[in-house]
Amino acid sequence: MPNPSDDIAVMPTRRDLHFKLPAERIGDWHDEGPHVSQFFNALSLFFPDGERFFIHSVRHYRERITDPQLSRAVTAFIGQEAMHGREHTECNEMLDSAGLPGAPLQRFVFQLTERLKLLPKPMQLGITIALEHLTAIMANALLQDRRVVGDAEPHFGRLWRWHALEETEHKAVAYDVWCAVMPRGLGSYLLRGSTLLLASALFWPLVAIFMWRLTRADAKARAERGGWRRTFRFLFLTPGPLRRAAGEWFDYFKPGFHPWQHDNRRYLDGIEPLLRDLESGSLPRAA
Ligand SMILES: [Fe+2]
Ligand SMILES: [Fe+2]
Repeated sequence: MPNPSDDIAVMPTRRDLHFKLPAERIGDWHDEGPHVSQFFNALSLFFPDGERFFIHSVRHYRERITDPQLSRAVTAFIGQEAMHGREHTECNEMLDSAGLPGAPLQRFVFQLTERLKLLPKPMQLGITIALEHLTAIMANALLQDRRVVGDAEPHFGRLWRWHALEETEHKAVAYDVWCAVMPRGLGSYLLRGSTLLLASALFWPLVAIFMWRLTRADAKARAERGGWRRTFRFLFLTPGPLRRAAGEWFDYFKPGFHPWQHDNRRYLDGIEPLLRDLESGSLPRAA
């Protein structure tokens, strides 16, 4: 297992950004149509409470971190996740304004994360690093192919690109906390691996159920023919972000795994242009 104290490959930065999302586009902001839009909206419903849970589970171990670099990274991680939660809450509230069941679905996520907080602390941190891995590999898939959100409505596209960039920036922080506070050995390895299996087995069916609830309530999605087939093709074939993320999902089970073994920090060069776009208010398509 890598030594967390000398392995801060990237220091994350908290950025307080606003995306001025056009509310009237909430149901069809993605160029692949209403179903794909609602797939991303379903993911968005998990973020605010999910990320608050990540913060909660990492905060519990904060006092035990002696390395100042990792301590700084944890502060930035907490700041970034809090900002993601705030911006996705805005997005989720637009679902309610459009007559879609955003609030009840978010309440379900809240109740779920409240239950997770009753689990033993190492298990909570295990769930966090597993879900951070899922998030990181999805973020990588989004950043590596512009077709994932590159032709979407530009404000929504930038929100998702920003989130993917910052998830990449902090992808190893919770994992480094895990390495710093957990005893090394088979027990930790088994806990780490089993939480990814469990988290993946729970998360994806819930996303599908959320998407089904949203598409059923949305007139545009109901009118779209072949929307589920189109979503499947988008996710698994062309551009196929979930198919492309599958290999990295398996890497997590390697005994010496570390998130930066998959070095994709070149994508972080996209942060500056994104900030410039936001500042100038211009709407170029994401590269
Ligand atoms: Fe996040
Ligand atoms: Fe994250």
